[in-house]
Amino acid sequence: MSRWSVAGARVTRQSTLNASSSSSVSRCAITRTSIKCYSVAAAQKQSTKSHSLPSQSRVSTVIPPPTQTLQPSGSPRPDPYKFLSPQLAHLRETLLNLLGSSHPSLTEIARYYFLHPSKQLRPLLVLLFSQATNGLGRGWQEKLWAAECEGAGGRAEELDRPLTRSDVLNDWNPSMPDYTSSFSSTFSMRPPRPPYVPPIPPPSETRLEPALTSTPMILPTQLRLAQIVEMIHVASLLHDDVIDKSPLRRGAPSAPAAFGNKLTVLAGDFLLGRTSAALSRLGESEVVELIASVIANLVEGEILQLKTVHGADLGMTGVTKPTVAGDLLNIYIQKSYLKTASLIAKGARAAVVLGGCKEGEVWKEVAYAYGRNLGIAFQLVDDILDYEAGENTLGKPGGADLHLGLATGPALYAWEEHPEMGPLIERKFKHDGDVELARDLVRRSAGVERTRNLALAYAGKAREVLSALPDSDAKSALEGLTERVVKRTS
Ligand code: FPP
Ligand code: MG
Repeated sequence: MSRWSVAGARVTRQSTLNASSSSSVSRCAITRTSIKCYSVAAAQKQSTKSHSLPSQSRVSTVIPPPTQTLQPSGSPRPDPYKFLSPQLAHLRETLLNLLGSSHPSLTEIARYYFLHPSKQLRPLLVLLFSQATNGLGRGWQEKLWAAECEGAGGRAEELDRPLTRSDVLNDWNPSMPDYTSSFSSTFSMRPPRPPYVPPIPPPSETRLEPALTSTPMILPTQLRLAQIVEMIHVASLLHDDVIDKSPLRRGAPSAPAAFGNKLTVLAGDFLLGRTSAALSRLGESEVVELIASVIANLVEGEILQLKTVHGADLGMTGVTKPTVAGDLLNIYIQKSYLKTASLIAKGARAAVVLGGCKEGEVWKEVAYAYGRNLGIAFQLVDDILDYEAGENTLGKPGGADLHLGLATGPALYAWEEHPEMGPLIERKFKHDGDVELARDLVRRSAGVERTRNLALAYAGKAREVLSALPDSDAKSALEGLTERVVKRTS
């Protein structure tokens, strides 16, 4: 904690003031068909300008912060979902446009899970961290400038160019010459961006502390990142439902049940392809690396789980037989990080990088540490719900983990009280009556309670990390989200 709070305090003051001191800070507003952008200076002269959108589906719009003001301490925190609900709805709508393909059936499967509402936890976190940290990093002014240089080929325009181009990327095109000028012509068409000139900060004694209510906007790149993390999540679910042979997802037939395994795997791959193109457009190699490592982590987490459950049967190397619950608990937390928390943590960190936070600034660490702890807490609660909730609340079969041979927190803790659980875990609950017996042992133990306490401890750490952030509505919403994750019942 203190590792970042000391350095962070110094950085906050300096960079926040720099950001707020510039007269070129702009505000943008979105309507369904147009974006209005105006600088603070221009607004003072009552001159707003309006650009027509080429299509209703534009995502790379600087969406203004919610108008809510900072909650005085002690008053209820903003509901994290309501706080950013227009942004989340906009993201969901425009995301479908990233998934078009020349094969309508592929488009249909790739879009399938997006048509059923998800909790949108991952995009929400990206947006909240963007909002909570924008303006704090040394590079914020430059990022803001890049977002607003639309006419000069800035980031927003770049993000909205189609991800597929019929002449180059999309098609098998037999009449296309072997060497085509289409790459170079596309890129040379765009006028060069004017050089960035950093604002000159006023002398330190004339700087003013920014008003707590001045919440910075969310950048187009951050909005796109929110969609990217959701696409990766859905890609992983498509593959997961094949591996787990899951019949249901979000209250409807799963993709493999509806379309078959082959098309489902390919749809997941297709989503990752679209994600990669969208990622590269963000123009930040650190973010590309972070998100690429998330995809590797998801696969590593799945492999770790497979190895724990079926390692010997699959002839996997490095399979050791855990003899005590503690060994399995460690593997379980590691797997929860890789499968769940990594995307949440690195997504939040990437949002902060896109907001201009640089090496040595504390905000990236805050985002990562928060996401890591929250992600593990989220997974622990998920595993409790697998014991406690039924299909109607979960939208997927309850009790699935034991049927898959998986011993999660409640069963592992129950093993410490009931040695009979050991052989059941070892044979992956395969014998008739094993699942029922294991559920009974969990019920007669403190397994669920201890798993909940562990989730609360992780959530507590996440909450503690937030104290390093300056006060804002977004920070309050993140605090609210921490509570919500551990209290959720579905
Ligand atoms: C849900 O787990 C699944 C995940 C969190 C990740 C699965 C990852 C892979 C299949 C690796 C491939 C990754 C990509 C990006 C293609 P769960 O089965 O515990 O949850 P559930 O009950 O919701 O199915
Ligand atoms: Mg599954």
